[in-house]
Amino acid sequence: MVNKLKIVFVGHVDHGKSTLVGRLFYDAKLIPDDKIQDMKAKNGESSIIDYAFLTDHFKEERYQGITIDTSQIFFKYKNKEYVFIDAPGHVEFITNMITGAAQADIAVLIIDANEGIQEQTKRHAYILSLLGIKKIILVINKMDLVDYSEKHFKNAIDSVVPFLKQIDITDYSAVPVSALFGDNIITKSNNMLWYDGKTLIDIFENIESNIYNKNNDVIFPVQDVYITKPNSHLYRTIVGRIELGKIRINQQIYVLPSGESANIKSIKKYNKSIEKASAGECIGLIIDRPLFIERGNIISSKINGQIITNSFKATIFWFSSTPGKTKEKITLKCSTQETYCYINNIKKKINSSTLEFIHTKKEHINRLEVCEVEIITKIPLALNTTLENDILSRIVLIKDSNIIAGGIITKIYKGE
Ligand code: GTP
Ligand code: MG
Repeated sequence: MVNKLKIVFVGHVDHGKSTLVGRLFYDAKLIPDDKIQDMKAKNGESSIIDYAFLTDHFKEERYQGITIDTSQIFFKYKNKEYVFIDAPGHVEFITNMITGAAQADIAVLIIDANEGIQEQTKRHAYILSLLGIKKIILVINKMDLVDYSEKHFKNAIDSVVPFLKQIDITDYSAVPVSALFGDNIITKSNNMLWYDGKTLIDIFENIESNIYNKNNDVIFPVQDVYITKPNSHLYRTIVGRIELGKIRINQQIYVLPSGESANIKSIKKYNKSIEKASAGECIGLIIDRPLFIERGNIISSKINGQIITNSFKATIFWFSSTPGKTKEKITLKCSTQETYCYINNIKKKINSSTLEFIHTKKEHINRLEVCEVEIITKIPLALNTTLENDILSRIVLIKDSNIIAGGIITKIYKGE
């Protein structure tokens, strides 16, 4: 998990997602004056905060290097950095989220105060819960259209909360805003004196980037091991990116799945030795004994922080137009771990558009179906469930080099 908080913006069509993101940039004064003048000249006053314009503009000019790609953009406010993720077309969005191109830490679910919960609000919220996103900010937008009334705010929340409960999202906060006029986005609104909560940016500021890691556990998936032999002494440098926690010299670590332990002798970054490194940093590690370590091993600070197993239950989303079958040999990736696996059985099937259960025979998984499955892997892996972290609980299934499905681990059967 990196130190920039990743926030995905979702919601029903036209509920104001683009306007809200644009307003955040505008009020945070991240749009240069001349660009604002350009936008006004081109599209009139109200288009100042057209997010589509912003993303195009960033793409065009690579403005201060803040664009990652069209669906992810950097945002900075008071020295804290964020990555905003736009939720584009349904399927690409889920593919990106699952494959890690855009793993969000939290989600903003935008709801029009007038319309309340709608079809796509539900679908997006459901997908978020499937992907293991635990924290949601309910932004009740377009308060200007309902006379900034508390009653409308409460009604909108009442319309969505029972649904969130149904899909197991219990951690949420809610804020009434007008994205168009900037109420409660960065500045507190004078139009809603009845609201004594935080502005949207204050809610963002109060979320810890590392929402899972209260106790500083380390997860360092091994990407490679380099062997060098300067002055006839053999060095093995274990390289990778720290996904969770902090690593420091002399710390004891465990190599999974073997469970062997060692101490960190040195930490290298860009050929320099450093004392410690934290989540998001790509580093090389040298340990104090010659253990056999290879790509796909997981370095952890706890012996029992992960379960070593070859069977688990997962909720997966099937992208491929070729239906999935039980017992078929496919490749599974979880962080840097990779092995053959097969789907042992299909327990539940859900239509991702209607959210209805599919009661037909559970032998195949068809495109755009969400299923609860049991997976058996060829070699044991170090895994967590989505309740523990999203690094060792998100999986991708691959066949003939194509991603065919992705999902999250919900239950792990203990290995021997
Ligand atoms: P899609 O990307 O098409 O899903 O829509 P969206 O959710 O990005 O909505 P968008 O920001 O494009 O806003 C849709 C319309 O609602 C636009 O005409 C906005 O000007 C308008 N709108 C957005 N926020 C507000 C608001 O707070 N108040 C009012 N009155 N209109 C708003
Ligand atoms: Mg939009």
